[in-house]
Amino acid sequence: MAEPLLELRGLNKSFGGLRVTENVSLTLEAGEIHALIGPNGAGKTTLIQQISGALAPDSGEIRFLGEDVTRLSMARRARRGLARSFQITSVIPSFSALENAALAVQARSGSSFRFFRPAAREAALNEAAMAALEEVGLAPRAHLPAAALSHGERRQLELAIALAMRPRALLLDEPLAGTGPEEAERLIRILRGLGARYGILLVEHDMRAVFALAQRVSVLAQGRVIATGSPAGIRADPVVRAAYLGEEEGEG
Ligand SMILES: Nc1ncnc2c1ncn2[C@@H]1O[C@H](COP(=O)(O)OP(=O)(O)OP(=O)(O)O)[C@@H](O)[C@H]1O
Ligand SMILES: [Mg+2]
Repeated sequence: MAEPLLELRGLNKSFGGLRVTENVSLTLEAGEIHALIGPNGAGKTTLIQQISGALAPDSGEIRFLGEDVTRLSMARRARRGLARSFQITSVIPSFSALENAALAVQARSGSSFRFFRPAAREAALNEAAMAALEEVGLAPRAHLPAAALSHGERRQLELAIALAMRPRALLLDEPLAGTGPEEAERLIRILRGLGARYGILLVEHDMRAVFALAQRVSVLAQGRVIATGSPAGIRADPVVRAAYLGEEEGEG
């Protein structure tokens, strides 16, 4: 069998006496949306941070594209194609959506446009940026300043910025947080489209989105993966219901 896109092997992380990641192993395949769900404080965000390189695990291994990246910096992982979206700092409000995406293209491409004349360079950057905006359905809003976008559109822009880095895998931490029902519907459609082209590790509390999008679901509780399976299997799992789903669905 081909190697998975991303593989976690026996990751562990503690903050003082608190174990936030306990022997976590999981895989993400190309073209797969793998959802990571679990109660508040289960350790989902700290796991994403270890994968992106924002936090170092105490032990265990993170493999990406068949290579051990556990000790690589966040920037190096990003250049290899591991993109984390929804970092607040990534959008400049006074720049247009297109300019924001173009900056990300420029960051990815480094000096590869250096032999272009300035006008040609700008055209090439804008073309790549526009392609990323098109992928997330934001092309019609390309020339608006980011500050004029709705909350949901800003999330689309953040996705476009991640895509401009030409990733292979996307790490998304609650991409639907704070969106209204219509915006959530639109984002779900966009994520479904992206899921066919990229591996996506999706942390999300919106169970409607999780069950609509994921091919596999893993449940994290107190830092441990207590179940991995198909959405239907996870929904029917009594251990999962007791740890998380029962209460979540009851709240809605
Ligand atoms: N820098 C830190 N120092 C100490 N404890 C931390 C730190 N970051 C997170 N924690 C603790 O680690 C545990 C896991 O937090 P984490 O943010 O990963 O949970 P989560 O699953 O993302 O929760 P939520 O669903 O609310 O986003 C929590 O108990 C949290 O308080
Ligand atoms: Mg979190």
